[in-house]
Amino acid sequence: VTFYEWRGRFENVDVNQLHAVGFGHRLRDDDWWGQVNRHSLGWVCARWDRRLIGFVNVAWDGGVHAFVLDPVVAAEVRRQGVGSRLVSVAEEHARLAGCEWLHVDFEEHLRPFYFDSCGFRSTNAGLIRLTP
Ligand SMILES: CC(C)(COP(=O)(O)OP(=O)(O)OC[C@H]1O[C@@H](n2cnc3c(N)ncnc32)[C@H](O)[C@@H]1OP(=O)(O)O)[C@@H](O)C(=O)NCCC(=O)NCCS
Repeated sequence: VTFYEWRGRFENVDVNQLHAVGFGHRLRDDDWWGQVNRHSLGWVCARWDRRLIGFVNVAWDGGVHAFVLDPVVAAEVRRQGVGSRLVSVAEEHARLAGCEWLHVDFEEHLRPFYFDSCGFRSTNAGLIRLTP
């Protein structure tokens, strides 16, 4: 059984591991726990047994806008609905927190995931890379 928990406890190493695999970079030592507790509206942990198999960070402007950042699901359990469920739990809690809008941006190949499975609609958005 998979459990989804809003603002649940997690170990940094587990999120760093999911990110390294999900986004194809080396294993980092980022302090996710400190970072999301200081800055985010919340986050969602997906657990199967005790293992962290999915994570999404929900950023916030302090008002009515929340932002889904980098949902990630362990490679072995993708395409079983975990990613969509992570986003729907994020959506539910952003609504409960009084937010009126949930934003996301993503690469072209994830259009079916965000539009068909998660229920986002298309809008114009922009992005500037701030580092060289
Ligand atoms: C994107 C991601 C979170 C999706 O998680 P998931 O648990 O596999 O998603 P779901 O099972 O809920 O997918 C639901 C539907 O979305 C679509 N979808 C999911 N992943 C997709 C992909 N990689 N490419 C195209 N469509 C995809 C499919 O229509 C899928 O339904 P189907 O399996 O019946 O075909 C996962 O692939 C992942 O962790 N990727 C690496 C990290 C990443 O790129 N995150 C997004 C950053 S913006």
